Amino acid sequence: MTEQALDAFRARCVARVQATLERLLPAPQIEPARLHEAMRYSVLTGGKRIRPLLCYAAGEALGVSPALLDRPAAAVELIHAYSLIHDDLPAMDDDALRRGRPTCHKAFDEATAILAGDALQTLAFETLAEATDLNATARIAMVAALAQASGSRGMAGGQALDLAAEGKHLDRVMLEHIHIHKTGALIRAAIRLALLANGPVDTDHAARLDRYAKCVGLAFQIQDDVLDVTAETTITGKTRGRDQDLAKSTYPSVVGLAEAKEMAHNLLTDALTAVSVFPARADPLRWVVESLIVRTAA
Ligand code: IPE
Ligand code: IPE
Ligand code: MG
Ligand code: MG
Ligand code: MG
Repeated sequence: MTEQALDAFRARCVARVQATLERLLPAPQIEPARLHEAMRYSVLTGGKRIRPLLCYAAGEALGVSPALLDRPAAAVELIHAYSLIHDDLPAMDDDALRRGRPTCHKAFDEATAILAGDALQTLAFETLAEATDLNATARIAMVAALAQASGSRGMAGGQALDLAAEGKHLDRVMLEHIHIHKTGALIRAAIRLALLANGPVDTDHAARLDRYAKCVGLAFQIQDDVLDVTAETTITGKTRGRDQDLAKSTYPSVVGLAEAKEMAHNLLTDALTAVSVFPARADPLRWVVESLIVRTAA
């Protein structure tokens, strides 16, 4: 694929997920209006939409029609948005800035932010359950995959471990365990949903896509830790240095900045290797990784 075709692919995916989210989220005038406004505030503005992009890119590699992935891609983004609202709450990372704007509990209030997160989470599962363009077996498998990735053995479990580790010095094994769960699980699910939409897939190809997803998932959180130290708020839209303020164990704090960058780079290279046997229609998967490599190097 040419550079131009890849740019067009990205723009199409972002537009598709935006339109789907707009359609799924209740209008701000509908009661309870404040809750609906908070949900829309946290989902519709900003965000790189990396998880939906990965879902559509995996679909493209497998030959799945993007229309079949509109709901799965939106469902993953809804869970992600909920996880960010709760991550920013005073009881968690107590953050004031997200996507360059006040966090949900600052713009609204704490109770509304908690409920907005709850409601986004349930909307994600409703979205999958009502994806009537997919057969019932695929829908149930998707609900199960997204639930596992989001729950105590996935994202929420990783978040619990992340909070419990504040102020402690973790070793690399434990740190990797936390990152794989709090962030890796949902990224892996984004790609898994594309596989499930496709029906039976060659097992080698499925294993390769999963390997790609695992590498990208871990690299993504390592990179997030690196950017917390190195990047201006104008780039991340988040409070710089928050991890250090909270005495989090992060890759830069445990292995040092240079090694953290190198690890992210190596994982992204491994992700490219995992999908190297795929034909040109996997170029969007390669392109996502290449854009992440550029981001780490910056
Ligand atoms: C931030 O995720 C939190 C992590 C899980 C690393 P993103 O970097 O994908 O955040 P947005 O969606 O682009 O704001
Ligand atoms: C967030 O990790 C992971 C989830 C939201 C599940 P961080 O706490 O590092 O994310 P940011 O830096 O606040 O976006
Ligand atoms: Mg956190
Ligand atoms: Mg945080
Ligand atoms: Mg972070």
